[in-house]
Amino acid sequence: MPQTIAVIDFGSQYTQIIARRIRECQVYSKLYHHTVTASELKKDGVVGIILSGGPSSVFSKKAPVPDRVLFELGVPVLGICYGIQLMGHLLGGQVAKSDHREYGHGTLTITKAGRLFSKLPKKLRVWNSHGDRLTKLPPGFTAIGTTDNSEYAVIEDAKRGFYGIQFHPEVFHSECGTDVIRNFLVGVCKATQDWTTDDFIKKAVSEIRATVGKSRVLLGLSGGVDSSVAAALIHRAIGKQLTCVFVDNGLLRKGERETVESLYARNFKIDVRVVDASALFLRRLKGITDPEKKRKIIGVTFVEVFEKSIKSIGGADYLAQGTLYPDVIESVAIGNNPAALIKSHHNVGGLPARMKLKLLEPLRELFKDEVRAVGTACGLPKEVVWRQPFPGPGLGVRVVGEITKERLAILRNADHILQEEMMENGWYWKVWQSFAVFLPVKSVGVVGDERNYSYVIGLRIVESIDAMTADWTRLPYDLLQQISSRITNEVRGVSRVVLDISSKPPATIEWE
Ligand code: XMP
Repeated sequence: MPQTIAVIDFGSQYTQIIARRIRECQVYSKLYHHTVTASELKKDGVVGIILSGGPSSVFSKKAPVPDRVLFELGVPVLGICYGIQLMGHLLGGQVAKSDHREYGHGTLTITKAGRLFSKLPKKLRVWNSHGDRLTKLPPGFTAIGTTDNSEYAVIEDAKRGFYGIQFHPEVFHSECGTDVIRNFLVGVCKATQDWTTDDFIKKAVSEIRATVGKSRVLLGLSGGVDSSVAAALIHRAIGKQLTCVFVDNGLLRKGERETVESLYARNFKIDVRVVDASALFLRRLKGITDPEKKRKIIGVTFVEVFEKSIKSIGGADYLAQGTLYPDVIESVAIGNNPAALIKSHHNVGGLPARMKLKLLEPLRELFKDEVRAVGTACGLPKEVVWRQPFPGPGLGVRVVGEITKERLAILRNADHILQEEMMENGWYWKVWQSFAVFLPVKSVGVVGDERNYSYVIGLRIVESIDAMTADWTRLPYDLLQQISSRITNEVRGVSRVVLDISSKPPATIEWE
């Protein structure tokens, strides 16, 4: 059993990020609901406790309050934001009610480094998001850090190992935030730094086994990073009890279906059922040019095909999904935002409820980079683990206008050349997305002595952090030249290649 840091959740949107920062320090942590008792924590052998932030005010009747006995366990406690107010409130200090929240950047001045700010700068830019604040120290504490708004921004009781901080060290905007957390874990709690990706896998595998028992699990494999890693992990846990369904919607890229078959079925020996529904998709898409209509048809047809295939393989008890933590917060945070809808639809939302399937989401606490590390440790190749995002509607939104077999074939061949060149030259791994777009425009070209009146291919290569904004990548001219001449020479039906130099906003990454 690794040494455990308990993170007690008081409802902050950042609680999982605290857990992530602790993992980054290679220390094991476990999240607990705020009602956890001190004796449960003692039984779990926790060596340190972090009280998370939260939206409540300690003055509210419904304010979540932890078991007070946890302060008597003899283990260090770090209160963050709402956590510091709880400490003040419960340990004999005073908290003042505030009508407005302090939100955003502030400067923290450290007056005494102690163990928490050991080897860190005396002034730090930190991220605040709190309403109430501490106005009188609890007995035994001293103030060791201040901000413009608070003389008790950081408090310490070095003897008991109790610390309170008003800012959020876990968020990216707080300078040296992870160092502060590491100082608490290692310097104060003396936790060992030996928690690795392999440990995560072992724990996930045993949890999947315990949850699933002898039941059957079904997973919709898209070939993307998340569903692939989920498949590899679940397969490691329950082998043949997992069946993956891969729907060929006729809108896949060149060689995609074959890769899925050879990698998962032959290499990993995963039970993968490839359902060829391309004819159905293309029939329903015939004559459709409106992007939103296309998306809708593809989405509805996907769910229909997937549902039918579940029935044909005799049903299942669990539906596994490669949901990641950012998907979880996004769908909570932005409610009915279309982006969340796209995601849920892509993750076959609605299906589990209708088919009475239980959800299995072994990656739901992880972030993308952690998922990649898990995938690599499970033996997935670089091409899968570092694969660029690919939209659920596939090439359906990359053939501008009407989708036909001929247009798809042209796009597939052009896109394949682009990907080959991007990979060979190492650029594929550096950019956010690189893909070709079929434009339903004919332009005049010349091949030998003959006039060639054919289609146009657009190249879309972008850099981005989160797809919310994006900029076009300045690829070397020689590489662009190589891609362009290969496409016009090797792909019949293309007379011209153009480069998309629009950023997002105002353009979007995809053309439709
Ligand atoms: P846009 O085009 O909105 O794309 O700038 C942002 C990111 O989302 C992907 N994308 C989709 N993903 N279903 C998906 O699963 C969709 O309908 C869809 N549309 C766009 C796009 O590839 C980019 O990474």
